[in-house]
Amino acid sequence: MTPTFDRMTFCIHTFGCQMNKHDSERIAGMLEGLGASMVETIEEADIVVFMTCCVREAADVRLYGQVASLKNVPLRAGTPLSKRIVAVGGCIGQRDGEKLTEQLPHLDVVFGTHNLGSLPGLLSAAVADGAHHVEVLESSADFPTTLPTAREHSWAAWLPITVGCDNFCSYCIVPYVRGREKSRTLEDIAEEARGYVEAGVREITLLGQNVNSYGRDLYGEPRFVDVLDAVDATGIERLRFATSHPKDLTDEVIARFGTLRSLMPALHLPAQSGSDRILAAMNRRYTREHYLGLIAKLREACPGIALSTDIIVGFPGETEEDFLQTLSLVEEVGYSQVFTFIYSKREGTPAAKLVDDTPREVIQERFDRLVEAVQRCAYEANQAELGKVVDVLVEGVSKRDGTMLAGKSPKNQTVHAPLPEGRSVDELVGAVVPVRVDEARTWYLAGTVADGGVTRP
Ligand code: SAH
Ligand code: SF4
Ligand code: F3S
Repeated sequence: MTPTFDRMTFCIHTFGCQMNKHDSERIAGMLEGLGASMVETIEEADIVVFMTCCVREAADVRLYGQVASLKNVPLRAGTPLSKRIVAVGGCIGQRDGEKLTEQLPHLDVVFGTHNLGSLPGLLSAAVADGAHHVEVLESSADFPTTLPTAREHSWAAWLPITVGCDNFCSYCIVPYVRGREKSRTLEDIAEEARGYVEAGVREITLLGQNVNSYGRDLYGEPRFVDVLDAVDATGIERLRFATSHPKDLTDEVIARFGTLRSLMPALHLPAQSGSDRILAAMNRRYTREHYLGLIAKLREACPGIALSTDIIVGFPGETEEDFLQTLSLVEEVGYSQVFTFIYSKREGTPAAKLVDDTPREVIQERFDRLVEAVQRCAYEANQAELGKVVDVLVEGVSKRDGTMLAGKSPKNQTVHAPLPEGRSVDELVGAVVPVRVDEARTWYLAGTVADGGVTRP
């Protein structure tokens, strides 16, 4: 029997990466399709779903506290339920399964990363009998894309092309909680992209833990470049993708940055470290030299391309010399943006067995030096935009000032500009407006909507 959630409300708290955010959109789509209404807060929600992340320890610890604190939140007036239903899914659900309900007795439902589609059935069983319902699968038979999606933004869509990861970087839990890499067929991807274009979506971001190895499981060879071409051919205005593993980024894909109409001039290429010794211990399977070679080719194919990366500080055994190699890599590349992480030991990964005796203060001090370099690079990259006119895809208003439009440039920089006279924010959200940049800060650009105003509604 199909479960129904008439008159019920739900909220989803999402942690972690875009995969989780996308999965949350699918859950929202499913529950709305079955009659429930989405609300923003736990107070208003009859059903609370946590989509969890365990890539680093901090998020892990926080979840347990958050679920525990729900006990004290009263139900809303008018709820059809006698008790709030609490569900945990995503990567902690996958990893901990039954253990979660042992530690959090008022948790009702646990599901994993391979069975999003089971959630409505599990929730409705919990509503009916008040018991725990836990379902975690080892892997999924099909690519999970037949589920509906309630997209967060009307103008942008995430489009998963692979799920899972086969890379087993030595520090990383993802392959254990997301399973082996699985690709979707090219036809299926193109069809979903066409649907988005018809629905007025302006920007598609292709998703995968390593999009560059797309197709290996289906076609016997990576065919990511074919995905780029097929999605571009749908007429989408802006195309992006995440994430790229440097060992699999091909010359063909690099060349597309110069030639493919819709491909935006920005690439996230996680380096993790600048030291060959640490890269080997991380099982990243490329060298600093190879990485820098890719950067040179990217800049040749697409001068001015904005590069971003992820860096881990304090991997077991990292010496000052290793760290200096990382620092010099960051400075040499001149990234627009760097996501910096302190190494976090994850049980079950190979790196968890390594001797990890660098003092905390030493790691923190390295981290601070890295952040200082990163901010300098970001500031310099933004300075280079002064005086240019950039096409901004409007996302809404600035968090700090409701009269300022906020959006993203092709290079994915945040851009602010005063709302042009006679225009409302609502009519501009999802539009592309040209902005002349007259201020460049570390984290954003600011300017004014250029002559001619809004080019496209
Ligand atoms: N598949 C993507 C994303 C992986 S998770 C990729 O390969 O880039 C996002 C980032 O989290 C990673 O790039 C890495 O920098 C960081 N990360 C993963 N495991 C970590 C750990 N155990 N400690 C600290 N940072 C970690
Ligand atoms: Fe983790 Fe490496 Fe896979 Fe990225 S490529 S998800 S860092 S194992
Ligand atoms: Fe976190 Fe899972 Fe993504 S562990 S980073 S939510 S794949």
